[in-house]
Amino acid sequence: MHLLNSLVLGLATLTNIAAGANSAGCGKAPTITTGTKTINVGGTNRQFRIRVPSNYQNNKPYKVVYGLHWNGGTMDQVADGGRDKWAYFGMQKIANETAIFVAPQGLDGGWANSGGRDTKLIDAINDYIDAGLCVDQGQRFSIGFSYGAGMSYSLACNRANKFRGVAIIAGGQLAGCEGGTSPIAYFGIHGIKDNVLNISGGRSLRDRFIKNNGCNSMAGVKEPTSGSRIHITTAATGCKQGYPVRWAAHDGGHIQSAADKPAPNEEDGTRSWVEGEVWAFWNLPELQTPK
Ligand SMILES: *[C@@H]1O[C@H](CO)[C@@H](O)[C@H](O)[C@H]1NC(C)=O
Ligand SMILES: *[C@@H]1O[C@H](CO)[C@@H](O)[C@H](O)[C@H]1NC(C)=O
Repeated sequence: MHLLNSLVLGLATLTNIAAGANSAGCGKAPTITTGTKTINVGGTNRQFRIRVPSNYQNNKPYKVVYGLHWNGGTMDQVADGGRDKWAYFGMQKIANETAIFVAPQGLDGGWANSGGRDTKLIDAINDYIDAGLCVDQGQRFSIGFSYGAGMSYSLACNRANKFRGVAIIAGGQLAGCEGGTSPIAYFGIHGIKDNVLNISGGRSLRDRFIKNNGCNSMAGVKEPTSGSRIHITTAATGCKQGYPVRWAAHDGGHIQSAADKPAPNEEDGTRSWVEGEVWAFWNLPELQTPK
């Protein structure tokens, strides 16, 4: 009996190593619960919200999804749903308890990432979660809006080895792009009428990963006309297997939960197509294999 247990344990360990992607928290009693946490990063106390699946099982490697707030926004707005009433940009509901969600708090309401301080925060949170929960380390994702999109973009640039994919909603290059040469699955979403961070900037961000991922140029790809109140999503062609790029342009402004007509307004999270398209993108079969 003892021998059998050792053997089973040995095999489980071997499997974890072979998969190369399961965190140390797998197979152990979880040490992290849903709530607000404080972590010291380089001498500064930083806060984040975390949501552990309600039916968490320690032998199931989970996705980790970061939701990054906008300028002047908060982790609570992201985690609770904010003005658009959709927790974690709508992803929490659609994930249906298959992912661990994290909403860190930026300093001064943003993600200046001075000296890489916010990247270090994300590194520290990843280590903390990996130790206490069962994570599929090849299935980390980040989604953000505006400044939070800028930070997600920064992670795409310098943490493509830690994150499998990103969704950049109305982003700009606001938190740096250290490195910036590695491929990562990339979904860019932008309004043609965005007067805060214009869509040509959004196209430039996208084009870095068109290049990194080896895709064919998206220059001149069809975007909706003004007044159409629709969106057009296009998948880039020719990308390296496992590193797709999608681009969704919509007939709206600087918003996070774009919706097509006849939605009563552009900020109605209950009618947005954003979370469904992002979740489907992150769950493409080509993203489910280890990098
Ligand atoms: C959510 O997952 C549970 C199983 O864990 C399943 O029974 C249920 O149908 C799912 N709900 C949706 C909306 O997919
Ligand atoms: C878009 O924004 C950038 C950065 O603010 C600016 O340099 C550029 O001229 C703008 N482009 C258009 C078409 O408005």
